[in-house]
Amino acid sequence: MPKAFITGTTGQDGAYLSELLLSKGYEVHGLVRDKEKSDFWRLVELDVKDKVNLVEGDLTDEERLKNILTDIKPDEIYNLAAQTFVGASWHDPVATADINAMGTLKLLEAFKNCASNAKFYQASTSEMYGGIHTSFALDEATSLHPRSPYATSKLFAHWMTVNYRESFDLFSCSGILFNHESPLRGIEFVTRKITDGVARIKLGLSKSISLGNIDAKRDWGFAGDYVEAMWLMLQQEKPEDFVISTGVTHSIHDLLDIAFEEIGINDWSNYITQDPKFMRPSEVKELCGKNEKAKRLLGWEPKVEFKELVKMMVEKDLERLEK
Ligand code: NAP
Ligand code: GDD
Repeated sequence: MPKAFITGTTGQDGAYLSELLLSKGYEVHGLVRDKEKSDFWRLVELDVKDKVNLVEGDLTDEERLKNILTDIKPDEIYNLAAQTFVGASWHDPVATADINAMGTLKLLEAFKNCASNAKFYQASTSEMYGGIHTSFALDEATSLHPRSPYATSKLFAHWMTVNYRESFDLFSCSGILFNHESPLRGIEFVTRKITDGVARIKLGLSKSISLGNIDAKRDWGFAGDYVEAMWLMLQQEKPEDFVISTGVTHSIHDLLDIAFEEIGINDWSNYITQDPKFMRPSEVKELCGKNEKAKRLLGWEPKVEFKELVKMMVEKDLERLEK
């Protein structure tokens, strides 16, 4: 039975990845910050909480990571833990860097010293591109220009992962994943904020949704498809970095159109307000990824389209609130 160690198990991707690996017969060990106090709602919704071996620890604690990897001896390590909210990274850049940059380096050290036969996956991000390019087919060779403390911390972790591969001949690779969403998405991210807000409006629990820059455009895919790509990257002979995206970009206007259509509203303008507190000091305006390499070498393709994704999220939020 192959063994996997996942950090960020309680997060959106950690939950879907746990479900996927369990279905493939893996023994899954998941890092959690607090066995008593952590919120396990996603693992509970997917009915996998009791099937994952929950291991207490923090990505910032190198000694603990070394002990865990020595005990578990995993075949695969997936580093998904992070301070993931871009907006919050300007308010707490130090904690963001401690977790995302130094935390990843500490895990790489533990991997090198205590589990060097394992394969290592790093959760890199399309935020590293910064949305500064005039071509919107961003791929593995495109230059990087992070525009937030979050993206800058992730850039360090990305290059450290490459460096451990090149310096120590380890199987370490990064997935440069574009935005991926699901009914398990955190409520602070714009997709879920909108689908939850729309469901509240439908049920009379709220009158409007307050947003920031609604002209932003993203390449949004379904998280369930993206964890499959993470697993495929670690099944290759050779460690390589891959862009994972849909190749299609949409604006927040498109997202609002589909979400409101689900509750029978065609003109959403009276239901949206804008608040400067949701604007970012430097915004990533548009992202669109070119996933040719993943298609060619991993045989990976996204299955769920944007419209289906938004509808799925509105339906689930309605179901939750009705309960
Ligand atoms: P998420 O839902 O926000 O989950 C983040 C996870 O990290 C949570 O389980 C959280 O645990 C854990 N965590 C935070 N700080 C930690 C620490 N100091 N020690 C241990 N665990 C810690 O994020 P996600 O959307 O699943 O994303 C997974 C990874 O992919 C992240 O690294 C993210 O940066 C990256 N990524 C995401 C996307 C996307 O669109 N979703 C795109 C590109 C890259 P708690 O429950 O204790 O808070
Ligand atoms: N969160 C949020 N809330 N975003 C808003 C709002 C709002 O009220 N109004 C407009 N936006 C805009 C943001 O300014 C941004 O341009 C876009 O919506 C998407 O914001 P988020 O959903 O917060 O996601 P993100 O793109 O910043 O970051 C996510 O994707 C990255 C991959 O590109 C996160 O999951 C990151 O962890 C991930 O790396």
